[in-house]
Amino acid sequence: MNRAIAPALIIHGGAGVRGPAEERPARQRAMLEAADRARSVLVSGGSALDAVCAATVTMEDSPLFNAGYGSALNSDGEVEMDASLMVLPFACDSNRLDGAGATTIGAGAVAGVRRIRNPILAARAVMTETPHVLIIGAAAERLASRCGLALCRPEELITDRARARWKTYMGRTPEHGTVGAVALDTNGQLAAATSTGGITGKMAGRVGDSAIVGAGTYADRIGAASATGFGEAIMKTTLCREVVRMLSRTAPSRAAAMGIKMLEVMAGGEAGIIVVDRRGRIGYAHNAQAMDIATFTPAEGLRHYHL
Ligand code: GLY
Repeated sequence: MNRAIAPALIIHGGAGVRGPAEERPARQRAMLEAADRARSVLVSGGSALDAVCAATVTMEDSPLFNAGYGSALNSDGEVEMDASLMVLPFACDSNRLDGAGATTIGAGAVAGVRRIRNPILAARAVMTETPHVLIIGAAAERLASRCGLALCRPEELITDRARARWKTYMGRTPEHGTVGAVALDTNGQLAAATSTGGITGKMAGRVGDSAIVGAGTYADRIGAASATGFGEAIMKTTLCREVVRMLSRTAPSRAAAMGIKMLEVMAGGEAGIIVVDRRGRIGYAHNAQAMDIATFTPAEGLRHYHL
């Protein structure tokens, strides 16, 4: 491990209604497993990008979160998923439309996808394999397939749990369980990733903040952030970008709290945010009933919090 920069990681399993108490131990185990996969990447000198993808894929594969397998259902009772990631510094010629030289900012996103088991990997493919940032629907699924990612029938992503929650919560409250991860690696790279099935009962075709760089996901040279909660409020306030910009003058914990306050005042609604700065300091805040997070730093090891 490079001793100059200590790695840091924080992941969330969504902010929203407090899930059933009997699910909590399993959710805690799943989050610690996700954080541990990212930890392994970071302590072996791997990139923040690989770390946030490892954590996010693990949560997408779990039926306990609203992302990938187990995604919330829209008003038609179908799955439509969004995901995005951002990384910096990141050398990538393909992110320039004119191909004339590299950029140090990497960003990729997919929206409204129905057949991709791990939407965050499709977002990564948009970043690395195209000159674009956001690809939607069937075209994103074709790209994912071309890149060797697993496709499935949309029904294969629907769990009994998601159907039950659709009946209970449709149109009433944000689903608990969008997932996200942010990390700093030993080389100083910062990355953020977010993946979701969106809000239970959302209008078909609705795209939320988790697909929108700057809103649900953001990274720049001073920090990285991932949001969860009511996507419309997060988009209206470009929550993640606002919070990361605050890091130039305030600590991550305070920036996160100020960002959630700003969202509440300006747009209303429930949200949560996780953030890490370039010094490896971690912050988080939410104004929902509950939010699950897990963290890793070399000093404190792996931790889980049900907030
Ligand atoms: N934050 C997830 C969504 O609103 O779609």
